[in-house]
Amino acid sequence: AALRDLIQRLPKAELHIHIEGTLEPELMFALAAKNGVELPYTDVEAARAARTNFTCLEDFLRMYAAATKVLITEDDFYRLAQQYLARAEAENIRAAEIFFDPQGHLARGVPLETVIRGLSRALAESPVEASLLLCVQREFGAKAAAEALTRAIPYLPKSVIIALGMDGSELGHPPRNFVLAYGEAAALRLHRVAHAGEEGGPSYVREALSLLGAERIDHGIRSLEDPALVAAMVKSQVPITLCPLSNLKLQVYKGQLEDRIRQVLASGMRVTINSDDPAYFGSYVSGNYEWVARIAGLGPDSLAALAANSFTSSFMPQVKQQEGE
Ligand code: HPA
Ligand code: ZN
Repeated sequence: AALRDLIQRLPKAELHIHIEGTLEPELMFALAAKNGVELPYTDVEAARAARTNFTCLEDFLRMYAAATKVLITEDDFYRLAQQYLARAEAENIRAAEIFFDPQGHLARGVPLETVIRGLSRALAESPVEASLLLCVQREFGAKAAAEALTRAIPYLPKSVIIALGMDGSELGHPPRNFVLAYGEAAALRLHRVAHAGEEGGPSYVREALSLLGAERIDHGIRSLEDPALVAAMVKSQVPITLCPLSNLKLQVYKGQLEDRIRQVLASGMRVTINSDDPAYFGSYVSGNYEWVARIAGLGPDSLAALAANSFTSSFMPQVKQQEGE
């Protein structure tokens, strides 16, 4: 309980959070009823229960994509972000860099403007310092990724979009396929991040760094399998956004995850702790810190150091400066 209190009190920043992954079953049902969308569950409890048994990333992504069908109007996106930010505030998260997946919504006929306006309104109202990272979804392919970014250009000057990210199905979609979109992002002066080394091996991390110019690696846990890569990442201090309970629930590393997390923490890489898709993996940021503290035996100083990393790894200049208390 003392550890839990300490984690709760620590000011934190969250750098790896998918807004669509914060869609709790309650809001999903409320929006489904309002919008006349049919769900494959009898009730909230059944939907929650369905979220407990993922075999891999792909398995999760199917359910995640299906749930987004309830998000139709600007107000739906507003409510989604508003709920997450309220929850973040309650956990003493002072800053959040939030991913959104426009391609899935566009494919359902939801205009980009609806998504961006709804999310931006919630961000503007929250006391949490927050910004958006546009994610291209790898399974849509390289050409579609570049097109998605191009479509967002009109909204960049007046929005809070600060970066390009990449998520979705990792295996078979290596970063080298997406140099066009990342080149475009660089020309637009956007920051660049990429999911890599979640299910894909260390070569995905290498490519994200060297070919996409990624300034932060999302997940990155499989970097461990390449000692030379780890050495380079220790030297450059490029941050990784670890999502421990996501890795646990999606069975990355199966029974060896605890060991791998301990190795990452001991490696000297700049590690941050995040929740990824908390409505699916059962825990928000504090729960992820608690789990890591427990399996790695972390005390107050180590936890404070992880929280400090979350601020220094932020792209928001006013956040980067503050290292908590
Ligand atoms: N990996 C890939 N795609 C995702 C994730 C993730 O962790 N969360 C939401 N989309
Ligand atoms: Zn993610």
